[in-house]
Amino acid sequence: MEINYDTGKIVVAGGRRLTGTVRISGAKNAALVLICAATMATEPVILENVPDISDIHVLVQILKEIGIEVTWPAEGTLAISATGAPQLPPPYQLVKKLRASNLLLGPLLARFGQAQVSLPGGCNIGVRPMDLHFKGLAALGAEIRMEKGTVLASAGRLRGARIYLDFPSVGATENIMMAACLAEGQTILENVAKEPEIVDLANFLNCLGARVRGAGTDVIKIEGTAQLKGCLRYNVIPDRIEAGTYMIAAAATRGSVQLSGVIPRHLEPLCAKLREAGVSVTEGEDSVLVQGDGNYQPIDIKTLPYPGFPTDLQSQMMAFLSTVPGISLITENIFENRYRVADELARMGARIKVEGRLAVIEGVPALQGTQVRASDLRAGAALVIAGLMAQGRTEIYNPGYIFRGYHDIIGKLSSLGAEIAFQAE
Ligand code: EPZ
Repeated sequence: MEINYDTGKIVVAGGRRLTGTVRISGAKNAALVLICAATMATEPVILENVPDISDIHVLVQILKEIGIEVTWPAEGTLAISATGAPQLPPPYQLVKKLRASNLLLGPLLARFGQAQVSLPGGCNIGVRPMDLHFKGLAALGAEIRMEKGTVLASAGRLRGARIYLDFPSVGATENIMMAACLAEGQTILENVAKEPEIVDLANFLNCLGARVRGAGTDVIKIEGTAQLKGCLRYNVIPDRIEAGTYMIAAAATRGSVQLSGVIPRHLEPLCAKLREAGVSVTEGEDSVLVQGDGNYQPIDIKTLPYPGFPTDLQSQMMAFLSTVPGISLITENIFENRYRVADELARMGARIKVEGRLAVIEGVPALQGTQVRASDLRAGAALVIAGLMAQGRTEIYNPGYIFRGYHDIIGKLSSLGAEIAFQAE
């Protein structure tokens, strides 16, 4: 019988220190865009280190629904063969579940001359507009219109252009990069996102035969080509947000946890902040050791585009700081509504005051376990951390949000000594 992970709950018995080693999975936000980019390949693609999480399975289902052949030849390995033209539009029921399906816009438009994606509704962290995506694609020559919440894009051969992004949007950078690979001539993209997932996308596109230079800096230059071939055995980068979540959980439970299979450089913003709070962080070649003794100081955090502190670790840090003595400040500069977890943490005894983009956290001696509800993926992760720290038992509802982005979070935390389980409805 198929278990419905959207219902049920995650139950945590708090108060146990996390100790041991945990292996980090492939990056959700890299794998999602690489799968979209693979629809541009005229020959087979093999992606490795793809995380087994529900967001990936939804995107795989969308590709299958539009006639693209996708199989899992081995655990964590995805084989994609987009030889024929897709049958558009992808089914709304699936697209509305996954905002990242909007990353199909650039690839399908560039290769097949048309694309239809649903404007993914706002989610629980903000409105999530796509104006920067549309500005860039229109600059390349696309006609973009909206019809009943569906984005309809069409174009003949796209032409390279010089494009300045008003904001270094990750998704806009990715959609425009992918489309520009098949545009005629050169595209110069300025004020782009510099996240590691952007660099991973550029490396993958170049493996397909594209000519992308400058990813990871403020300016990306792309020489368009007529078509892209395939790419066998491309390895997705490790997930810096999953890694950061376990690092914060280790600090929060005053534990000692070694993370393996990471790229420490991608974790720098968090390492710096944890050290500032008094947590010991030791970086290895492809590992990080986090040790916390509870002698912590309050800190100030501002979320910013990479290499600033990542917004996707903001909720988790809020949970951690809720029992750090003193006053900590968080300023959320990326999304306008990413403090909903504060209300749930308050139910556990946290003292958090939200004023617009500023959250003021007054540390309390301990949180108390109770029933709480996840409102988005990272808020759910923050509640797991809070449950691990709290006295007593915490029940986290809407666990499906958490399973969207964390492969085997129950198994990984249990192997670190947590007393945690998923209870189906
Ligand atoms: C990506 O979302 C990630 N998702 C998000 O991770 C992450 O939080 C975000 O980047 C920021 O790092 C994926 O990669 C699948 P943005 P994206 O475009 O691309 C505004 C998670 O938990 N904006 O950089 O949607 C927007 O409103 C998810 O894994 C415009 O104004 O983020 C937001 O305020 C959550 N116009 C800001 O930019 C646009 O056209 C950042 O958005 C596009 C964005």
